[in-house]
Amino acid sequence: MSTHENEQKVPLRSGGPAARIAVIPGDGIGKEVTPEGVKVLRAVAARGKRALEFVEFDWGAEKYLREGVSLPAGAVEMLRDEFDAILFGALGDPRVPSNQHAADILLGLRFKLDLYVNARPVELLHERLTPLRDRTEKDLRIMVVRENTEGLYVGVGGFFKKGTADEIAVQEDVNSRKGVERIIRYAFEYARQNRLKRVCMSDKSNAMTFAHDLWQRVFKEVRQEYAEIESRHLYIDTLAMEMVRDPRQFDVIVTCNLFGDIISDLGAQLAGGLGLAPSGNIHPGRTSLFEPVHGSAPNIAGKGIANPLGSVLAAAMMLEFLEWKAEAATLQAGVKGTLLKNYVTPDLGGDKKTAEVGDWLAEFVARTARD
Ligand SMILES: NC(=O)c1ccc[n+]([C@@H]2O[C@H](COP(=O)([O-])OP(=O)(O)OC[C@H]3O[C@@H](n4cnc5c(N)ncnc54)[C@H](O)[C@@H]3O)[C@@H](O)[C@H]2O)c1
Repeated sequence: MSTHENEQKVPLRSGGPAARIAVIPGDGIGKEVTPEGVKVLRAVAARGKRALEFVEFDWGAEKYLREGVSLPAGAVEMLRDEFDAILFGALGDPRVPSNQHAADILLGLRFKLDLYVNARPVELLHERLTPLRDRTEKDLRIMVVRENTEGLYVGVGGFFKKGTADEIAVQEDVNSRKGVERIIRYAFEYARQNRLKRVCMSDKSNAMTFAHDLWQRVFKEVRQEYAEIESRHLYIDTLAMEMVRDPRQFDVIVTCNLFGDIISDLGAQLAGGLGLAPSGNIHPGRTSLFEPVHGSAPNIAGKGIANPLGSVLAAAMMLEFLEWKAEAATLQAGVKGTLLKNYVTPDLGGDKKTAEVGDWLAEFVARTARD
């Protein structure tokens, strides 16, 4: 990898024979799992039909503590104009208790690149990984589509009489017509393009009678354009219960930022834990960001035992976004291979190191290419 300063500006090439990827490992285990994602992506590129160019950025706690810089000036425009996609690790460091750098970088990129879709697939890749009794791979395959740029995460609010016994704290839940419509439409489009039969919209419109009334009205309108797809509504509390009781009911779930955050973690645990869960922060047709769902895990950072499969699956989502479908399928098959052979890190019951799993996957990709 090279630093950005040495790179030439190149036009966007999504869907073409070459793609330019920004790599932001971040903090903690982000710096351990992301190189494994890059390793298997390099193996994919070495198959010869495609070219991937990587440029790494050292944004994270170290730089923030050293230079006071979180997201450098001009970074958003540079990523938007010069890169096809971003492979991201994780942010969070105990030396920055406020996590200010993480908010600046990750939320900054989500908002400023307008990455309004947070796609979080919940897929059981091996039946031994689910805590649910008598469930197999075919029972758990859900795409959770979380709204990613609005809701309670916009940071609108304030304190009144802060620090006193009469303190009031207000956090506003922002829902725009445009924002709600585009995420619901994305969910239906995703279902249509992937030949999935069912979309479930989840909200709390019985209690949140303004914000989620908007979700209700937009959902009823948009679903009329997708008559072939079975659409359904569940309150978020019922959805959480039903995902555990019978996850076979769901193909695509669409919900707001906060509820999507929570139920995708529930889903991740149903499918084997955080170490395996990938996500895409997407704006269709624009530079988008792919990352494992997990954080920087300071409790295991530096030990070389972090599970790299979430990062590898995020890399596979990135390849799908770039329309490199066959290459994405190869990475997914490789991940299933590690699980079948139990060639995995301790969080999944194995004894392998992070880099050993990455090496096995890179070799798998090369072997698959030769067959
Ligand atoms: N997208 C992000 O960058 C992101 C997401 C969540 C949390 N965070 C940050 O990460 C830091 C730690 O947060 P946390 O502890 O709540 O969540 P975490 O996801 O980092 O860790 C939760 C638990 O899961 C384990 N774990 C997570 N990923 C793993 C992996 N790949 N392999 C093996 N075990 C894994 C950890 O060891 C820990 O026990 C905080 O600063 C938090 O703000 C960042």
